[in-house]
Amino acid sequence: MENLKIEIAKNNIPNHVAIIMDGNGRWAKLKGKPRIFGHKNGVTSVREIIEGCAEVGVNFLTLYAFSTENWNRPKLEVKTLMALLVSSLKKELKTLQKNNIKLNTIGNIENLPGKAQKELFEVVEKTKNNTTLTLTLALSYGSREEIVNVIKNISKNVVNNQLRIEEIDEKIINNHLYTFSLPDVDFMIRTSGEKRISNFLLWQIAYAELFFTDTLWPDFRKENLFKALLEYQKRERRFGKTSEQIEEINE
Ligand code: IPE
Ligand code: IPE
Ligand code: MG
Repeated sequence: MENLKIEIAKNNIPNHVAIIMDGNGRWAKLKGKPRIFGHKNGVTSVREIIEGCAEVGVNFLTLYAFSTENWNRPKLEVKTLMALLVSSLKKELKTLQKNNIKLNTIGNIENLPGKAQKELFEVVEKTKNNTTLTLTLALSYGSREEIVNVIKNISKNVVNNQLRIEEIDEKIINNHLYTFSLPDVDFMIRTSGEKRISNFLLWQIAYAELFFTDTLWPDFRKENLFKALLEYQKRERRFGKTSEQIEEINE
């Protein structure tokens, strides 16, 4: 694995990696266990991936942990996921501090149980001066809901004469998103073989490189991350330009 890490070019690390952590339920089912067993084991992957990102110099990591649509799951699964969130936050605070990682959240956090909100608030507060990696947890997050809120808030500013319609541009929209403090996503990974975005960061992935793997989330470890990063480094990001133009810039 160290060999893999050495192969990763230090000058081409995605600044912002976003991950749709999918496949916990199927992983557990394959083992004849209840779905929650998969979620519990998924926490180990979370820890490894955070550490792996910090090691290679990713500055922003955003993890899709719970979507607005996930509220429709069986009550017991939702409850257990929330409890798992609280216990993981308690357990991982030390590791975040040790690795200089700052915790951030996006999503409708007010919808989470009080205990989870309190724990999140505490960890965010305690890690706010950390500088190595910004770890953003998407919780009760839905991209469409986020965009609806942006439109409402911008409209309010227009109605109150704080903003003219002509002034609305991409930057202003960006500044109203939950992700206002984060750069665009460079690399989006989804595990478990599904090839869909499931309402995650629709605006923010406009030019992200997408990576889909069949590996189920609890099996997605550092080695898998490093392989994915090597694949990212093979891509040519053209942003609408020609390949020749990109080569010229790189010369
Ligand atoms: C991802 O795994 C975790 C969450 C959505 C909370 P799933 O629970 O979706 O696992 P599968 O897709 O059913 O296997
Ligand atoms: C997406 O996974 C949400 C998270 C990973 C938190 P889902 O398993 O909920 O996605 P769909 O509904 O199958 O697309
Ligand atoms: Mg799933």
